[in-house]
Parts: sequence; C-alpha cells; structure tokens
Amino acid sequence: NKGNYEHYMQKEIHEQPESLKTTMRGRLIRGGSCKAKTVLLGGLKDHFKTIRRSRRIVFIGCGTSYNAALAARPILEELSGVPVTMEIASDLLDRQGPIYREDTAVFVSQSGETADTLHALEYALENGALCVGITNTVGSAIARHTHCGVHINAGAEIGVASTKAYTSQIVVMAMLALAIGGDSITSQTRREAIIDGLFDLPNKVREVLKLDQEMKDLAKLLIAEQSLLVFGRGYNYATALEGALKVKEVALMHSEGMLAGEMKHGPLALVDENLTIIVIATRDSCFSKQQSVIQQLHARKGRLIVMCSKGDAVSACPGGFGRVIEVPQVEDCLQPVINIVPLQLLAYHLTVLRGYNVDQPRNLAKSVTTQ
Ligand code: UD1
Ligand code: F6R
Repeated sequence: NKGNYEHYMQKEIHEQPESLKTTMRGRLIRGGSCKAKTVLLGGLKDHFKTIRRSRRIVFIGCGTSYNAALAARPILEELSGVPVTMEIASDLLDRQGPIYREDTAVFVSQSGETADTLHALEYALENGALCVGITNTVGSAIARHTHCGVHINAGAEIGVASTKAYTSQIVVMAMLALAIGGDSITSQTRREAIIDGLFDLPNKVREVLKLDQEMKDLAKLLIAEQSLLVFGRGYNYATALEGALKVKEVALMHSEGMLAGEMKHGPLALVDENLTIIVIATRDSCFSKQQSVIQQLHARKGRLIVMCSKGDAVSACPGGFGRVIEVPQVEDCLQPVINIVPLQLLAYHLTVLRGYNVDQPRNLAKSVTTQ
C-alpha cells in the first residue's frame, strides 16, 4: 500500500523517521540520573565476549548493504578496538579469500536471501568464523543460517532501490559498535553523545526531508546530464558510493561515487566545465581536506554542488560558486544517515522526470537469488 505516495521508493524515503524509530525501539536505554546510557541488542547479548576477543571483524554484503557497512566501519573501528575489514560477497568468493576461526564475519542483507551473500556465509561457516547476520527479513535464509544477529526492523521494503533499509542498517551497526565498545571509561562521553544523537536522529531526518522540493528543482537542472560524480571521504565515503548507486540504478544515468582522497590520482582528469560533481563536505575531521578538494575542482571549472552543514555555505563554498545543499548537522558517525537522504530524493526525482520506472528499474530484481 503506497498510501498517499505515487511510488514505493518515494514512500520509503519519506517513511525514514518512522522506520528508524522502529529500528531503535527497545534497544536504546537512556538511564535515569545515575544509570548510564546503553544499547541492548538482544540477539547478540550472549556473543559479545566472543566478538570482542575476535582477531578482526569482517563485513560482507553486496550493493547498498555493503555501502551501509562501509558507512559504519569508522565508528566500529573507533569503539570496538578490533580491526574491521570489508568484503563484497562475490569478490570474497572469487578469491576464496581468507576467513579464520578467530574472525567475526558480519553478513549484511536487507532481503536475507541474496545468493552471493548466502554463499559467502556458507563459506565462512565452513571456515569456522562466528557468523552474525544483520537482516530486515525474519525467517530469511541469512537470518536462519547465521549463529546470531540483529533484525533491523525497518518494515517491508518494496521499491527495488533500497532506501530505508540502508539508514536502518547504519543505525544498527552504530548500535553494534556501541555495544561491542562496552562501558570503557575513556570513550564514555563519546558513546553518550552518539546515543543522544541516535535518539534525536528521526527528528533530524524529518528536517532533511524538507529538502524534497529543492532536490526536485535540482533534478530539473540535471535531467539531461551524461554523468554525475559524487565525492566523499571518511564517514561519507559510503554516502558517495550509495548516492551514485541510487542515481545509476533508478535514474539510469551514469554516476560514480569516489573517494575524494583519490581525486588527484586519476579522476581529476575528467573534470571540465561540462562535468557536474557533488561534493559532500559536512563538518567533521575531514572538512578542511574537502575544502581544498572543492577549490581544486573549482579551479578546473567543474560544475559543483556542495553538500554542507546548515549555516556553513560560506566556508564550504567560498565566493558562492556552485550550488549548495545545506543539511542538519549530527554526530559525525551518524551524519551518513542524514546525508544520503537528499541524494535519495535527487535520484527519485531524476527518475520520475526522465520518465523511467521508479520501483522496478529495468534489468533489476529486488532480491538477487542467482549468482
Ligand atoms: C526479539 C524479538 C522481538 C521482541 C524482542 C523482545 C523476534 C524476531 N524478535 O528481538 O519480536 O520484541 O525480542 O525482547 O522474535 N538472528 C540471527 N541472524 C540474523 C538476525 C537475527 O541469528 O540475521 C537471531 C538473533 O540472534 C536472535 C533472534 O534472531 O536470537 C532475534 O533477533 P532480533 O529480532 O534482532 O532480537 P531482539 O531485538 O531481541
Ligand atoms: C540497491 C540495491 C542492491 C541491494 C543488493 C543486496 O538499491 O537494492 O544493491 O542492496 O542486491 O541486497 P540485500 O541487501 O537484499 O542482500
């Protein structure tokens, strides 16, 4: 049921304040005056000891689910103290890459039925790793075959392009980082700030959704582009990949997400006055590096669209060149949840304006059950 919306993708984008609430329900505890703020993940409580002792945490997934894990990687590294590596399921299988008994392998999948991810799970089970699932579908193959896990509880996702599952996956993995981190004193202030940030996140998502009309106007300007690049780094490297994935899969426009730190190592050659580039430059420890990326792209006459924190347009885009998308600022590790929303809206409006099928892009299936 699409309710008042024209398409499932549109409904699912706008539903995110509610889906995120459901994801967090019962799992965030804001203690009383003397009780600490904590996270409760029922499905993992008997396994944290093993996870903390593992030699590394390996995230495994495909497409959007892989991108969600990439978005959560920095906070997991920071709070868990365990090395975190990333694997695209098909690539792990192609290489028969190393998975050890001492590993915690985390399988991220909305459907819980993706063949590549499921085969990678079988492979990790054979190799003796602790296998953890992060899925949206109770009773799915991945939920059944993992040793333990977390349901993201985002509600059924119908649109082929994953939107609300992505933001709920990131939130679950941020909660996972908090839970693995335990109650170490050194990170207490940081952990409490993240928990407060999680409580307020649905409100902030509601706020960023108000950019809908602005993104529709931007889509009108970009309707005939050949290509769209998206540059991000740090917490928002994943946002660049995921934003570009949405644009290519539904709007059928060539789009690439790139690590801004790699710009000078090749992609800069593409830049001229005909190329549109979205640069994600919200405030975090990478901001000054992004400022210099913006300067260099501007010097090559790239057509810039800069995503920055509210009130930051002048620092992010001095001289007023380019267009600015201002988004509410949240705790740095949660910022990817906010920053993807305008890009989801942009992909949605581009698709409608270009006359393509939003909910059922050509050649794609919601759940990829063949390898
Ligand atoms: C569970 C209940 C929830 C109830 C809550 C109350 C289910 C599905 N969930 O939620 O309805 O309100 O207790 O305390 O009954 N699992 C995997 N792999 C996965 C995902 C999950 O093995 O990919 C396992 C978990 O380890 C756990 C079970 O499935 O044993 C349920 O997981 P989850 O729904 O996340 O647990 P709770 O949030 O505790
Ligand atoms: C993109 C998209 C795909 C899926 C991928 C994995 O919008 O939907 O990239 O994310 O096929 O699917 P799940 O998460 O079901 O394993």
